[in-house]
Amino acid sequence: MNNESPRIIVRRSGPLSGNVQVPGAKNSVLKLMAATLLAEGEFVLTNVPAIADVDTMSDLLVALGVKTKWLGPHELSLVNSGNISTEAPFENVDKIRASINVLGPLLTHYGQALINWPGGDDFGGRPIDLHISGLEKMGATIEQNLLNINAYAQELHGAEIELSFASVGATENILTAAIYAKGTTVIDNAAREPEIGDLCNMLVAMGAQIEGIGTSHLVIHGSKKGSLRGVRHAVINDRVQAATYIAAVAIAGGDVQVRGARPEHMEMVINKYTQMGVSIYPQRDGLRVTAPERLAAIDFATLPYPGIATDYKPLLVAMNSVASGVGIVTENLFPGRFRYIEELCKLGADIRIDGHHAVIKGVDHLIGTAVTAPDIRAGAALVVAGLAAHGETVIGEIHHIDRGYDDLVGRLSGLGADITRV
Ligand code: UD1
Repeated sequence: MNNESPRIIVRRSGPLSGNVQVPGAKNSVLKLMAATLLAEGEFVLTNVPAIADVDTMSDLLVALGVKTKWLGPHELSLVNSGNISTEAPFENVDKIRASINVLGPLLTHYGQALINWPGGDDFGGRPIDLHISGLEKMGATIEQNLLNINAYAQELHGAEIELSFASVGATENILTAAIYAKGTTVIDNAAREPEIGDLCNMLVAMGAQIEGIGTSHLVIHGSKKGSLRGVRHAVINDRVQAATYIAAVAIAGGDVQVRGARPEHMEMVINKYTQMGVSIYPQRDGLRVTAPERLAAIDFATLPYPGIATDYKPLLVAMNSVASGVGIVTENLFPGRFRYIEELCKLGADIRIDGHHAVIKGVDHLIGTAVTAPDIRAGAALVVAGLAAHGETVIGEIHHIDRGYDDLVGRLSGLGADITRV
């Protein structure tokens, strides 16, 4: 770890108190931004989180010809004047997974997309075969080589597409490509994540015709090319950031209002938190959270929405690591998504990995030391774990956390946590 690079220092904290506002969702805003390639005019996105990935997506869109401008701290204007390049520069695409979301809009609106393989969190292999086979079914020709993907189509046509796995990214790319496809596209076993609902709602406001929003059966009636318009849209609140603040209270103790948390988007994870002993009360504007004396260990498996999101897993594993009892966790989405466990073990957690399972034996307390954030959510989980560790936990490589968390340190410190960024 480079000693000059920013780090987060956390000391044992709690009880936490007060309230925290949940920011807009990373996994929604990036897709909404990419969707501005579908229509000429001005888009204004509000409730935009102040995260590095928004800047990266903005750089990518600027490179493609969209003009972006901050109108306020959380309000972003994006103007698509129609002068759009269909070649996405490598350096912009390489940094984030959501860069692949320009594929559908570019292809359907401008007839071509040349894009290299997207980057993002390294969870092991992250194929895009479902995106590609879906677009091919709609009439696209797609050439792939080791460096990039070149997709083109004079005109896409509707198709019936059944996804063999409810992939978030594949659903979004097929959905956006279907907007100007001739005829009707049906996506079966579509992913149902609330962020996809947010994208659908914005597309409908832009003039798209979509049925089945929020379900696994999406029906998109193609519109006349170029007929959609720019809109003003508020980004949905981030269920993973909300879950992070609940986990922080659960681990450090206290009584906190998590404002803007949407319980209807978090049903399963709230059930799991409750099984662990956390009390969660829905309120007019979010949730009130109180922690038990000690958490109880739970078993869980990650699944596509409405199951327990893989993005919640590092938080639940951190909580299990100080809970009473033994918990077994099964990762069903990304087999490589256990890298942070080694870091939790450095803090004294007792965790054994066996294939895509982890067995976590709760310990009395963790002991602070230097650890490294391997990805966005795992980084946040290490911060949360640090709240329960004796001494000082120093987290490095926090640029990962900055990609998806809007002022995690400021928000936790506002609740009384002993946390600083140096
Ligand atoms: C999105 C989220 C990520 C979250 C994940 C699952 C963004 C930017 N990222 O990632 O935070 O953890 O959903 O909720 O929104 N798969 C294939 N072929 C494909 C596409 C996916 O086999 O063409 C597999 C993946 O390898 C993985 C599973 O499907 O095993 C889920 O991936 P997917 O839902 O597509 O996740 P992302 O859109 O990459």
